[in-house]
Parts: sequence; C-alpha cells; structure tokens
Amino acid sequence: MRTVENDGKIAKLIDVLMDKADEFVSGEEISRGMGITRAAIWKYMDRLRSSGYIIEASPRKGYMLKRTPDKMLKNSILHGLGTSLFGKAGMYVYDAVGSTNDKAYEIAEGGAPEGVVVIAEQQTSGKGRVGRKWASPPGGGIYASIILRPGMALNALSGATLVAAAAVCRAIRSVSGADAGVKWPNDIFVRGRKVCGILSEMKAEQDMVDFLIVGIGVNVNTPLQLLPEGSTSLKEEAGDKDVDRNVLLAKVLEDFESRYSVFRDKGFASLVDECREMSIVLGKEINVMPGRGAPLSGTAVDIDEHGALVIRDASGALRKIYSGDIEL
Ligand code: BTN
Repeated sequence: MRTVENDGKIAKLIDVLMDKADEFVSGEEISRGMGITRAAIWKYMDRLRSSGYIIEASPRKGYMLKRTPDKMLKNSILHGLGTSLFGKAGMYVYDAVGSTNDKAYEIAEGGAPEGVVVIAEQQTSGKGRVGRKWASPPGGGIYASIILRPGMALNALSGATLVAAAAVCRAIRSVSGADAGVKWPNDIFVRGRKVCGILSEMKAEQDMVDFLIVGIGVNVNTPLQLLPEGSTSLKEEAGDKDVDRNVLLAKVLEDFESRYSVFRDKGFASLVDECREMSIVLGKEINVMPGRGAPLSGTAVDIDEHGALVIRDASGALRKIYSGDIEL
C-alpha cells in the first residue's frame, strides 16, 4: 500500500518535525540534515498537508508540525516507541484487512518473529470471542495483533490474555485518564461499558505453543452509533475529546512488552497482584457462563496464581473457572 508515510524521505521528515513538536525547525536545518533542496522541502510539505498533516510555515522561522492526521501511522507509532521488540521486530499497517488476527496468523505461519505487530485502520470481518463479531469501522479504533513466540507449554500460557488486559488497561488509564478496569478475563470496561476486547489465538503442536496472536481492539474515537449497545469509547469518556490512537498504541506495546517478559521468564504468579488490582470483578456478585460446564453464580473472590477466577457459590464452596463469560 502506497501512502505518503511509506516514502523514506517523507518518513524522515515527519520524524524531524515530530522530534521538535511545538517548535519551529528551520528550512536550512531540514535541508542540511536530510540532504535535500529547499524546493524539495516545499514539495514534501505540500504532500504532507494534503494527507492531513497541519504544518505551520514561517518565512523566517521554518516549519512547525501542529497536528498529525487521526490515522494509524507507522511513523507516529514508532516515534519514541520505548520497546525493544514489540513493533520493532516489524510493523505492518493496513488501510483495511479482514481481521488483523488472521493476517498476523498468516504472517506468523510464514515465520515472522516474535514482536511483529499487525495494525489496520479498519477490519471488514473483525472477530470477537466465541464466534462474535467485533465492530471495526475506520477512523476511530485501534485494531492490532501482536505475534508472540513464548516457547511455553500450553498449560503455562493460561494467564497470557490477563496480562495483556492488565497492560492495555494500564495504558488506557495513563494516556486517556479513563477509569478503566478489567472484566475477567479480557474485556476492559469504563463506567460499566465496554471499551476494549482482547482475542488470543494460537497455534500449538503437541503440548507446545508454536505462536500466540494477541489481538487488541479499542474503541478510541469511534462514534458510539457505530458500536454495539453497551459499548463506550475513550473519546466519549474524555468528554468528547479525541485521544491520539498512535500514542495509545505505542503505550500499549510498551506496557505489554514489559509485562510479557516477566510473564515469560517468571510466570503469571509474578503478575497476579496487578491483575487483581485492575479487576472490576473481584468482590462482586456474578453469573458465569464457563467455557466448559454448567452456568454458575456466586461472589468473585480471587484470581489465582494461574489466572483462574475463584468464585464462592451459594453453598460457600470455592469454584475455579479458567475461561468463560461473566455477567456482573
Ligand atoms: C472480544 O471482546 O470479543 C474480543 C475482541 C477482539 C477484537 C480485536 S480487534 C484486533 C483483533 N483482530 C480481530 O479480528 N479481533 C481482535
């Protein structure tokens, strides 16, 4: 896909402008740093403007980047991204795909390394858990899938999605200020409405995981009328203020990478306290439709060191569930 950001020189120019956010960069500095003429700078600035970048130009001071377009952009995500692997191992950004999870799965089967991220502006068949659909209109959501190769046995992997959810929740809180919490195992809610869902899919042979795809969908600036009942967006929660999707995704990648390396090296038990702290389920009366077995009601009392939800039922007995849907 050919976009203005895929042009090497323009990518570099965006980087130079973003490095000096809210400051002018002189034409001379750009021209020297990039080895291009003043006329070429003009031409590139024009192309950026027609792609939605707002750039102020002053004959004496130079150029200042005022705003990047509200679009998922590789350069914007990579700019200042503080990860060593996630997104750095590779990043594919599409205007539209069926599902980023499917695309990531295909790329992983082709041998892509751990840390490659697949991102789309829009999904035409976004997937939710248990065969549901995930509304993925263009212009406001994050739809991203990360390829992981944890080299773990299947049974050690059970807390991976919870770790992802805690990381995304942390990132949402810090970038948007929303009071987000995790509804076990992998939904993120703000004030009782869903803002994010996570879908993990894997390929395994025997008992070993070949790769795991963690797919993250966040309603960032998506208009509420395009979302299912019971959903919200971060924009809505921020009082109709846009949240920068590229900044949020970069933070998600950073927060998830740091937790994932602890998870891989030390196991889920080292992260269980943060998962408990982020949970909006603990202490509540819930109905559970477990992945296997009969429906169950009771009080959610704990998340154990393997990621299972511990429920006290009406008879006082403690029951553990490892997957399922919860109603608060
Ligand atoms: C759920 O709550 O049911 C999970 C939703 C997961 C949605 C994300 S969007 C990116 C990735 N690609 C998909 O097709 N689904 C996940």
